[in-house]
Parts: sequence; C-alpha cells; structure tokens
Amino acid sequence: MTEVAPGQIRGRGLGRRFLIRLSHSRSLKEAILRRELPKTREIWALRDVDLDVEPGEAFGIVGRNGSGKSTLLKLLAHIYAPSTGMLAVGGRVGSLIEIGAGFHPDFTGVENVYLNASIYGLKRTYVDAHLDEIIDFAELEAFKDAPVRTYSSGMYMRLGFSVAMHVQPDVLLLDEVLAVGDVAFQEKCYERIWEFKRGGGTIVFVSHDERAVARVCDRALLLEEGRQLETGPAAEVVRAYHARLAGDTAERAASRNGEPSGPCRVHEVRAVAGDGSIRERFTEGEPMALEVWLYAEQGLEEGRVSVGIRDSAGNDLGSQTVDRVLLRPGQLERLRLHFPGLPMREGRFVVAVAVRNGDGSTELAVADPALELSVFSEDSAGGGPIRLGGSWELPGGDSA
Ligand SMILES: Nc1ncnc2c1ncn2[C@@H]1O[C@H](COP(=O)(O)OP(=O)(O)OP(=O)(O)O)[C@@H](O)[C@H]1O
Ligand SMILES: [Mg+2]
Repeated sequence: MTEVAPGQIRGRGLGRRFLIRLSHSRSLKEAILRRELPKTREIWALRDVDLDVEPGEAFGIVGRNGSGKSTLLKLLAHIYAPSTGMLAVGGRVGSLIEIGAGFHPDFTGVENVYLNASIYGLKRTYVDAHLDEIIDFAELEAFKDAPVRTYSSGMYMRLGFSVAMHVQPDVLLLDEVLAVGDVAFQEKCYERIWEFKRGGGTIVFVSHDERAVARVCDRALLLEEGRQLETGPAAEVVRAYHARLAGDTAERAASRNGEPSGPCRVHEVRAVAGDGSIRERFTEGEPMALEVWLYAEQGLEEGRVSVGIRDSAGNDLGSQTVDRVLLRPGQLERLRLHFPGLPMREGRFVVAVAVRNGDGSTELAVADPALELSVFSEDSAGGGPIRLGGSWELPGGDSA
C-alpha cells in the first residue's frame, strides 16, 4: 500500500459491492417446497473511484440519495473494506457518520464517551483528562448520567461530534449529521470545524446542503450511481451536480418516449421532525413529516403519489396515496405527509415513494428505498410493530 502522510488520503479504483436479499414475501415452507434459494441481487454502491485528498484540505462529496456517499465515507473510516481498489488514509480518523454509531443505547453519556473513545483507540487516562471538556462542548452536563437511548437525535449528534473532535484526528469524516443539530449548535460545530481546518486537519464532508459544501469545502467529488462523475473546486462541482439533475430528466425523457406527462423524478425524500430538523432517528409517537420533493420536466396534471413504509424484514406496514397532485413544469415541488405521532414502535423502517399517472396505470417515478428511518421506543410496553393501545375493563367493571 502507498505510504501516506497524516491527513492524506489516496484511493485508487475503489469499489464496494453489496449483496442484498430480495423478496421476503414467501414463507419458508413455500420456499423449501419450491426448493428455492433466497434470491440475491448485487449492488455496486461504489465503482472505480479515485480519491486524492491532501492534508489540511476540506473535501466534499455530493450526489443524490443512494449515489454512494456514505459508503465512500465508511470505506475511509474503515467501517467497510473496499471490494476493489486500494485505499490509504493517513493518521487518526475521527468520524461522525451515522448518528448513534459507536454508542451503546443502555450506557450513559459518560460511559459512551469512554466506549466511543476506546473504539478510536484513545487511552482511558486521556479521556479522564478531557471528559469534562467533551461533555461541556456537547452541552450535556445535565444528561451525562442518563442512558443515551433517552437522548434526542440532536443530543446524540452533539456527543458524537464532541468525541470525534476530541480524539485529535488527522482526518475528520462528517456525513450529513450536523443537520440534526439546532441552528445554534450547528454554528458552534462549523466554528469548530473551521478551527480544525485552520489547525491543518483534513475534512471529508457529505451534505445535501450545497451551501454548506461550498462554505466548508475546497474541492468536491460528484457521485452518481456509485461512479465518480467529476472532481474539482467545490463550487464548480456543486454547479455540475445541479446541471446533472436537470440533464438527468432529459435522459429519462429519451428512454421513455410516449409518456403522457413527460419525465418525472423523486428528487429527494426526507423526514422532518416537529422542530423542523431533518433526521433519520425518531422516538415513537413523535410528530414527523415525510417531505417528498418531486420534479416533472413537463409538469404533471393529475399525479398520484404514494408513500409506503416497510419494516426491516420487508413487510409492508402501510401506505398513503394522494390523488390529483399538480406539479408545475421544471420546478422542484414539495409534498408533505404529516404524522401527528409516529405509529411505529421501534426498529428500522424503509420509506418508498412512487409517482403514477392519474389513473395509476403508469409508474412515472419511484424511489425505493427513498429513506431509512430508525424509531426508538420510550418504554418497553408490549411488543410488535405497533403500539396496540386500548384500555382495559376488568371483571367487576374496574378499568386499568
Ligand atoms: N449495508 C448495505 N447493504 C446493502 N446495500 C447497501 C448497504 N449500504 C449501502 N447500500 C446501497 O448502496 C447504495 C449507496 O448507498 P449510500 O448509503 O452510500 O448512498 P448515499 O449517497 O449516502 O445516499 P443518501 O444521500 O441517501 O445518504 C444504495 O443503493 C444502497 O442501497
Ligand atoms: Mg448517506
């Protein structure tokens, strides 16, 4: 492997393949009777990516949902090994990739600082000396002895960020996570990131917020379907990304001629919490809105938009469809599906979105998976995917 200096990253021909199992809909008995093997499909989340990041540089990664950004960061963090290619990352790596990763839900904030730091290879004595600073920065003094499963997404992020900044990394990896913090804390993070950069640290930064990319990054990489489309000055790459989004729709038009309403796509799907923050972790019963951004090149007169949710085993939990959606031509349009309280109890869930024509006969655009959500339960009352609720009436007429 190539020798690299601390803070330097060299990647050549990087690829990462995943095998996913398809179709859980048949019962095991049926599958055995039919002598079927589980069907798998191969996904190349990344393909043939070259990466050169120099010490002290801030490097952005942009691209649509599923384009491979997080996968690339996970390679850099050594969470995944590359399936192809060669990668060298110099020095210590601090990362904030998935909120809650590296934390144990039943441990307290303080215990998790030790756990997280040990994953980074830090000595206990170092953590002893910096513990107060870490908790302080995260503004979690009052919650440090509570198990982190009771934390909000923003609190998780604060603690994760604070630990990542205190491990004195040479390379800092950040994936979209700052978005869950409130505005004041985000500002504080950006301050800290600047400071880190001024001190000569290397940053690799994934964000859907293009202003943030332009603000933080010197150079950037544009991914599409796992492939590297462009690398260059951050502002140029962000521009290329926008141009690509527009061009995309033209390409689809060519491949789908004769469609009544012209090409259409699901641009982005995200989950917005009650306080307006965008995140993927929620607590049962929390208010949440699924925000669906759609784009129809030539507009759509009467669209039918469906949102479906599956559990991690692939079982459909429910769906919602809205008819007669009007999309203006050439504009990103937003729909929101509001939930006053999330109906799922606990687990990981996949959200899928489909757009059909007025009578539902033609699928115009689909995003599946569009989004993955984690939901945590506040307590352990009952089991199963939903909170059954209801009230008891006992013999003798008492209620409980
Ligand atoms: N552990 C995994 N197992 C199977 N497939 C995976 C896994 N991780 C990622 N993928 C697939 O690889 C592709 C790239 O995913 P990745 O999470 O890197 O995208 P992303 O650019 O970070 O998207 P987003 O903007 O939604 O965060 C997707 O098709 C995804 O389904
Ligand atoms: Mg991602």
